[in-house]
Amino acid sequence: MNESLIIAQTEDFVKDQLGQDTTGHDWWHSDRVRNTAAEIAKIESADVFVCTMAALLHDVADEKLNPSKEEGLLKVRSWLSSNLTDEQQINHIMMIIETMSFSGGGGEPMQTLEGQVVQDADRLDALGAIGIARTFIFSGAKGRPAYDPEVSPRDESLQKEYRDYSKGTAINHFYEKLLKLKFLMNTTYGRKLAEERHDFMLNFLEHFYKEWNQGSQ
Ligand code: ADP
Ligand code: NI
Repeated sequence: MNESLIIAQTEDFVKDQLGQDTTGHDWWHSDRVRNTAAEIAKIESADVFVCTMAALLHDVADEKLNPSKEEGLLKVRSWLSSNLTDEQQINHIMMIIETMSFSGGGGEPMQTLEGQVVQDADRLDALGAIGIARTFIFSGAKGRPAYDPEVSPRDESLQKEYRDYSKGTAINHFYEKLLKLKFLMNTTYGRKLAEERHDFMLNFLEHFYKEWNQGSQ
């Protein structure tokens, strides 16, 4: 099977798997990450096919969408095994997805350039205008308020608390995670894109507070 046919079939598989998720792991997230990953891969001379496949599949194994992370990963591996023949390539794509699914709080560093590219692309989708939109969608889905000046940001490394969505606000998520991401970028081009999106978020926050406090000072 040629690469573009495998990609087309993987697109259908991912659309089917992610279905109607509205908490940030929808098909369009995977589609954007795949496109961004391919763009970074070309500039950083990484394997575009491996990056595209890993990016397309990176959320299919997510623990939020499966009975367990292990079952999610098995599902992805069996999809790859029935579509690819190169064991080394399958293992490479799986390694990227496995390492990514251990994010949240201080995961292991990516071992290969392709892994670094896909991780950068996923992080970029949490930044900028798209990242702002996703944060508010996610917060709404979890019943978190947009903002509460009396609730201060928490330490994200406290994994348990981080996953406790009942506390905290959408605006706090910028300080707990999003504004730290540009310092974690792996590739030069990914970092450049992250810096643009970071600055846009700072601009957004500045306007947010200005409007929130309109007339009160
Ligand atoms: P991914 O798997 O793509 O890295 P996550 O599952 O961590 O993303 O989050 C999906 C989206 O929801 C992201 O845009 C992220 O910033 C946002 N999000 C995650 N956790 C929170 C939170 N506690 N509060 C608000 N938004 C969140
Ligand atoms: Ni993702």
